[in-house]
Amino acid sequence: MRTLTIAGALIASALLTGAAATQSSRAGTDVEQRIDALLAKMTLPEKLGQLQQLDGEANGNARPEHAELAKAGRLGSTLNVRGAARVNALQRVAVEQSRLRVPLIFAFDVIHGYRTVFPIPLGEAASWDPAAVERAAAVAAAESRASGIHWTFAPMVDIARDARWGRVAEGSGEDPHLGAIMAAARVRGFQGDDYSRPDRIVACAKHWVAYGAAEGGRDYNTTDLSEHTLRTIYFPPFHAAVQAGAGTFMSAFNSLNGVPTSGNPWTLRQILRDEWKFDGMVVSDYNSISEMIAHGVAAGEADAARIGLTNGVDMEMVSRTIATHGEPLVREGKLPMSAVDEAVRRVLRIKMRAGLFERPYADEALERTTVLKPEFRQAAREVAARSMVLLKNDGGVLPLSTDVGRLAVIGMLANDRENMMGNWTGDGRASDVVTILEGIRQAVSPKTTVDYAAGVGISVERLRVETDQQRADDERGMDEAVKIATAADAILLVLGETGGMSGEASSRASIDLPGRQLALAERVIAATRGAKKPVAVVLLNGRPLAIPELAQQAPAILDAWFPGTEAGHAVADVLFGRVNPGGKLPVTFPRHVGQLPMSYNYLPTGRPPQASQKYTSKYLDVDVTPLFPFGHGLSYTTFALRDVRLSAPRIAADGTVRVSVDVENTGVRAGDEVVQVYVRDVVASVSRPVTELKAFSRVSLRPGQRQQVTFTLGPRELGFYNQRMQWVVEPGRFDVRVGTSAVGGLQASFEVQ
Ligand code: NOJ
Repeated sequence: MRTLTIAGALIASALLTGAAATQSSRAGTDVEQRIDALLAKMTLPEKLGQLQQLDGEANGNARPEHAELAKAGRLGSTLNVRGAARVNALQRVAVEQSRLRVPLIFAFDVIHGYRTVFPIPLGEAASWDPAAVERAAAVAAAESRASGIHWTFAPMVDIARDARWGRVAEGSGEDPHLGAIMAAARVRGFQGDDYSRPDRIVACAKHWVAYGAAEGGRDYNTTDLSEHTLRTIYFPPFHAAVQAGAGTFMSAFNSLNGVPTSGNPWTLRQILRDEWKFDGMVVSDYNSISEMIAHGVAAGEADAARIGLTNGVDMEMVSRTIATHGEPLVREGKLPMSAVDEAVRRVLRIKMRAGLFERPYADEALERTTVLKPEFRQAAREVAARSMVLLKNDGGVLPLSTDVGRLAVIGMLANDRENMMGNWTGDGRASDVVTILEGIRQAVSPKTTVDYAAGVGISVERLRVETDQQRADDERGMDEAVKIATAADAILLVLGETGGMSGEASSRASIDLPGRQLALAERVIAATRGAKKPVAVVLLNGRPLAIPELAQQAPAILDAWFPGTEAGHAVADVLFGRVNPGGKLPVTFPRHVGQLPMSYNYLPTGRPPQASQKYTSKYLDVDVTPLFPFGHGLSYTTFALRDVRLSAPRIAADGTVRVSVDVENTGVRAGDEVVQVYVRDVVASVSRPVTELKAFSRVSLRPGQRQQVTFTLGPRELGFYNQRMQWVVEPGRFDVRVGTSAVGGLQASFEVQ
């Protein structure tokens, strides 16, 4: 038996940051002196120029005005301009033709891959494997930097508890601990320990803050949250990003407790700078400075500029309020020069740390040999397979055999490239994508016949309006699907959302299977029920879906999220058992949209739900439990957890306790299990969640192999913010649960004295 000790990953990363900080402090002094010298030479318009970021064209081209502004020293950055040659052309103007030769910093939304597209972030988080997530970000960084990009607007670390919000797809789900681990992994992957290197880029933790708590799950909507909830649920992934060294933050679109987050002194100054000592740069989200007028807190553009800049935004994305009104504001004494200088300093600091003054240009030859390298595609395939979650597998329907005589593949998404990349596609090209149908055809034996039918149509437009023609086409499509299913020996239904149904401005009021996919699945399953043929569903989705009927009727469901460029290969790897699925849900799947917002770590009430008791906290018309709980995910093998042990029955408030458990692969295939540790502080001065994830580890075991896994819980895991917002560990009993999802597992308790 091997012993594995897992120190709290957050603590480990905090220590690493500490070490790196001392090393870089000498370099830091040098950077600050260079900034002083540069600032002393800059005119006010040149300073304001550094604070302006403008948008390029969606295809990666710069706009004509960029060169004019860069030459005049009135542009600090662009977003979306990409490709080494295009970036170099514009950079040459800034570096060779502007008075002070300050390089531009080129930004782009590299969210889950640049050209080689990895699974959507929610899918990556479902791997519960920070090393895999770090690797994906590192590949994205290498491709981006080679293509002239210095800065990504990622990771998105917003916690999301309402699956109607389309941007659930872009984050790591509902849990602050998992979210913090993934945030740190992504920052490390993008930046490495030195983002001036030719294969690294600057990260940007976004959207600061609470953007994911939009009321009703409607994008851009108001948020209203207590300080306690912010500190406990929404801040931790951002804090982890700071501790991992994230160079930049993005302020959000939403207002928080009445104050827009792009002009919020409490979040931008007090928390971020004063408490967390963040010394990087804050960029406002797209037009979010000028949108403070629509929020009703700024009287006009000049007012918006003043509110944004004085409260802690450094660079303005797209709107031009600071560049336009900065001079008169300073002249009229409404904007202190010190606020301008501070913002410019932060922008220059990141440019210097990114090595742009020494190496402003991209290497065009490197770009050609870097993007879409075979080993990057291989990494995307592996990470995609690791991200998949086996939701259900009755009777061991999966894995399918590769030499089944006739296989029916049904569903429009099976024969689709574009949608496999999800919502953010970076510079990904649909033509690079392996479809699920292609992946399956390549994987099966030469004797297997694969039939395909698209079934029913799905599209964002059809979520609102369907024509008679589309309905008639659906009927014909279903008939065709039933026909090939009846003739087949095994059936695979590929169902879900299109890529555009999640992401920005893509909230949904219902989160069911769009269109008539459920009817399609029901007809196919009913038509083949008597024949005892294996039927499995591959689900593609950017959010948890409320699919109780499908979950009941389909014998097997594999959640593949949006898997990226290598979609088809990765899906086939898991379907046919070359890879044993080991992903776990980073979000709760509700039974019904009306249960939202929903998360596993809710606060107890005075009336815990009981089906038989009317006056308890529940709905009359839907079960209180989720359809699939947070942390859930099956495997083609089985695991047993045994013998949970604590290193001590009682500890001091500043002490630690080790929790050990044995995990054994009790089946006949090698596989991965994610061992999860949940804690409940039974009695405290504020109500504590019914259960909270505090540690986890994904372990790989051969058949019959047994391993001890040990976790350490200390003040970081056992503490909480009390009513005075102090982090405390209070005496009393703590219940520990070690399990394989947020439900069930082995229990133990200890006392804090
Ligand atoms: C708006 C989005 O909210 C943000 O996430 C993104 O980085 C910017 N647009 C830039 O594309």
